[in-house]
Order: sequence, then structure tokens, then C-alpha cells
Amino acid sequence: MLIRAASVDEVLPLRARVLRDGGPLDSARFDEDEAALHVVVLDPDVVACATAFPAPREGEPGAWRIRGVAVHPERQGSHLGESVVRSVMVESGAESFWCTARISAVGFWERLGFAAEEPEPYSMPHGGLHHTMFLRA
Ligand SMILES: CC(C)(COP(=O)(O)OP(=O)(O)OC[C@H]1O[C@@H](n2cnc3c(N)ncnc32)[C@H](O)[C@@H]1OP(=O)(O)O)[C@@H](O)C(=O)NCCC(=O)NCCS
Repeated sequence: MLIRAASVDEVLPLRARVLRDGGPLDSARFDEDEAALHVVVLDPDVVACATAFPAPREGEPGAWRIRGVAVHPERQGSHLGESVVRSVMVESGAESFWCTARISAVGFWERLGFAAEEPEPYSMPHGGLHHTMFLRA
């Protein structure tokens, strides 16, 4: 197993499969992708991925946003998600992070130390209800 920085083309297939219900690769693209940091876990194919990019917030000018966290369905629950998120955080060099977490994944982000900002979740186009979650490392 290998964890390393990657190109957007390497992360798109797993993102589309897991986060866009197997939709086309283009449906899984983010506006920020070209300038973003991408990390993958390889075993030997891509089994987990995460993306991060600078995304300042009020009072947190150095914050980075973490997006596109996906683990292959047959490999979920074996700490690959945790590994790829921790790696992208270290590689970013940032000290504060935020994400929009699917309700189903809030517990995962909490295990990593993130806390939800607002009491009620809100709806997003993909993945249903979300919470914005924040971590200062
Ligand atoms: C959510 C996801 C990224 C988590 O990755 P994973 O490899 O399955 O999770 P990990 O094994 O790294 O979990 C790390 C810890 O979080 C916990 N955890 C993982 N998913 C959880 C969940 N959905 N709810 C509550 N806790 C969760 C694990 O039990 C583990 O705790 P432990 O350290 O006490 O054992 C992965 O399951 C996935 O791709 N899901 C579908 C897509 C998705 O929801 N992406 C995130 C969008 S915001």
C-alpha cells in the first residue's frame, strides 16, 4: 500500500464512483481541482482519495477546505479515509481546515477532531443533508 500526492485525473474515477453514484467523471470535478492538492492511497489501484485547497474563512485567513474524500466501497472501515485525510492535512501545511460533511459521515469527521458549526444541517445538490465542520490543528 502506498500513499502519495496525485493528479486530478487519478482521483476522478473513485470520486465519481463513490460521491456521484457512478456518474460521469465530469460530474465529479471541482472548480478548484487544477490548483488543488490531491492525495491517494494505492493498493495497487486508487482505493482512497482526498483533495484540499486554500479556502479562507472569516477569522481564518489560512484555512484550507477538504473535499472529495472517498474510499472504495469494499475498503471502507479500515482507516483508509482517516489516513488520506490526515495526509492531505499534513501536506497542506495549513493549521485550520473545514469541510461540508454529509450527515452520514459526520461521525467520521468528529473522530478526526472536526466539529459541526451550525445546529441544523442544510441540503446540498449531491449527498443530501450536510454540516459545515471545522478543525484548528
Ligand atoms: C466516510 C468515509 C470517507 C470514511 O472512510 P473510512 O475509511 O470508511 O473510515 P475510517 O476507517 O478511516 O474511520 C475512521 C474512524 O471514523 C469512524 N467512522 C468512519 N465512518 C464513520 C461514519 N460514517 N460515522 C461514524 N463514524 C465513522 C470509524 O469507526 C473509525 O473510528 P475508530 O478510529 O474508532 O475505529 C468512507 O466511508 C466513504 O468513502 N464513504 C462514502 C463517501 C462519503 O461519505 N465521503 C465523505 C463525504 S463528506
